[in-house]
Amino acid sequence: MAELEIRDLHVRIEELEILKGVDLSIDRGEIHALMGPNGSGKSTLANTLLGHPNYEITQGAIIFAGQDITEAEPHERAKAGLFLAFQYPVSIPGVSIANFLRMAINAKREEPIGVKEFRGLLERAVELLDVDRSFTSRPLNDGFSGGEKKRAEILQMAMLAPDIAILDETDSGLDIDALRTVAEGVAKLHASQGLGALIITHYQRILHYIKPQFVHIMLDGRIVLRGGEELVERLEREGYDQIRQEHSAVV
Ligand SMILES: Nc1ncnc2c1ncn2[C@@H]1O[C@H](COP(=O)(O)OP(=O)(O)OP(=O)(O)O)[C@@H](O)[C@H]1O
Ligand SMILES: [Mg+2]
Repeated sequence: MAELEIRDLHVRIEELEILKGVDLSIDRGEIHALMGPNGSGKSTLANTLLGHPNYEITQGAIIFAGQDITEAEPHERAKAGLFLAFQYPVSIPGVSIANFLRMAINAKREEPIGVKEFRGLLERAVELLDVDRSFTSRPLNDGFSGGEKKRAEILQMAMLAPDIAILDETDSGLDIDALRTVAEGVAKLHASQGLGALIITHYQRILHYIKPQFVHIMLDGRIVLRGGEELVERLEREGYDQIRQEHSAVV
């Protein structure tokens, strides 16, 4: 059984069915890309996976590490080893990145982490992701540029060492250098910790740095096409029209 299994997932927001039967399996060490036009349901899937209360699961199941987490609370999912980077991260004025990271780590543990151990972890993560050490003293996301928010998120991911990460448009709004840093950071975590990831993106760019083994295309709340990297190139060439036509011919 894969680490994360999404089975026939149907999700509603305010009486409207958005996801109409999604099946997706992600194992540790696998990189998956999820692509699809605006409004097709990608963020809905990401938010549902992390247990956002506005999303009502009407059918199907989410299995993580052999446990049914369909009804689990967001913190229980994080504790089990699932990580979500938000398309629109929230800011927490007054809480420094370092303190936020400490809280996030402690939320996953029985005993609070020791000062020395925490500092060691932080040093390693800062080095791995090539961020400025002073960055971690700043209040989380307060007055951050878009790129800084994304870096803070990836730093959090490096510290929490999740088994599977869901990255919702982590690449949007990043300049070329920031994109490379973030993408290479994910690739390093993949290589060094066997991180598995679902990368939600509109563009090929980020996938130049982290090669997906599996590519899924979502249209109107369903995954209608699966393949490898070649699918990304096809999309870049043709857009979604061709796929939409083929799919409607099948249904
Ligand atoms: N909280 C909400 N209330 C009402 N409708 C919602 C809500 N969240 C999402 N939707 C609707 O669900 C559909 C899917 O939205 P979703 O954000 O999952 O799309 P997406 O694939 O992530 O799009 P994008 O590429 O633009 O990020 C859209 O029609 C959207 O308007
Ligand atoms: Mg989205």
